[in-house]
Amino acid sequence: MTLLLLAGSGEAKQIAQALAQDGTPAIASLAGETRRPSELGLPTRVGGFGGADGFRDYIHAAGITAVLDATHPYAADMTTRTARLCAELSIPYCHVLRPPWTPEPGDDWTEIAREEDAKTYIHSWQTVFLGTGRKTLHRFKNLEGTRLICRLIDPPTEPFPFEGGEFLIGRPPFSVDREKELFRLLNVDWLIVKNAGGDASRTKLTAAGDLGIPVLMIKRPAMPDTTRVETVADALAWVRAL
Ligand SMILES: NC(=O)c1ccc[n+]([C@@H]2O[C@H](COP(=O)([O-])OP(=O)(O)OC[C@H]3O[C@@H](n4cnc5c(N)ncnc54)[C@H](OP(=O)(O)O)[C@@H]3O)[C@@H](O)[C@H]2O)c1
Repeated sequence: MTLLLLAGSGEAKQIAQALAQDGTPAIASLAGETRRPSELGLPTRVGGFGGADGFRDYIHAAGITAVLDATHPYAADMTTRTARLCAELSIPYCHVLRPPWTPEPGDDWTEIAREEDAKTYIHSWQTVFLGTGRKTLHRFKNLEGTRLICRLIDPPTEPFPFEGGEFLIGRPPFSVDREKELFRLLNVDWLIVKNAGGDASRTKLTAAGDLGIPVLMIKRPAMPDTTRVETVADALAWVRAL
């Protein structure tokens, strides 16, 4: 067996380390979005496969016999395509999808379907903290002129795509106290996030709740109907049962 682990999430890192420890023959794959990715402990390939044809070619060339997809809950294109191609190729496939966050007492969350809908809630004089990443910034273009602070892990290679925006560099994890201090310092009025789920990055939501900062939560994308687990333990059990 040679397992392909599609990485790009905290769970993927834990799964990779466990597979390495077990001596499971596996190759990890990263999209190449982060310049200094965490060490996974498995042989790792980096970069897109070059579309569906490139993925099929890679599966054959590398002798992949099963795929565990632990990409991020918003990497819907990758998951949808991989689930479909694995079904076509009769290769066992499993998607690891952590449960979404749910509000707790004191949280003030509004779900929005698309980034563009944030405009309905935000006044131009307000300060917005974006925890949504670099790739979807253009979707906030209708907030041009509003102070938008986008936190990134790596320094950007391009300027903010429109006026009013600024980047802030920070590598997780961030504690609740540190997030509170930051939000106070920046005078944040709104937080916009994706409903990524997981404990590690919930700290910003707890900080927002404690400070009475309202949150716009971008709805999760639809995912294919496929074999799915929610936890690292269940993902490893799926691999061991192969
Ligand atoms: N979306 C987010 O908010 C978010 C947040 C944190 C981390 N990430 C991670 O960043 C990566 C890209 O996210 P995305 O939302 O841009 O994905 P996406 O829209 O679903 O996929 C875009 C393209 O990225 C490549 N790709 C994605 N995951 C890959 C992997 N593990 N190994 C090799 N290629 C991969 C594929 O390129 P080809 O077509 O060339 O094969 C895919 O078509 C994912 O691995 C995801 O786990 C995403």
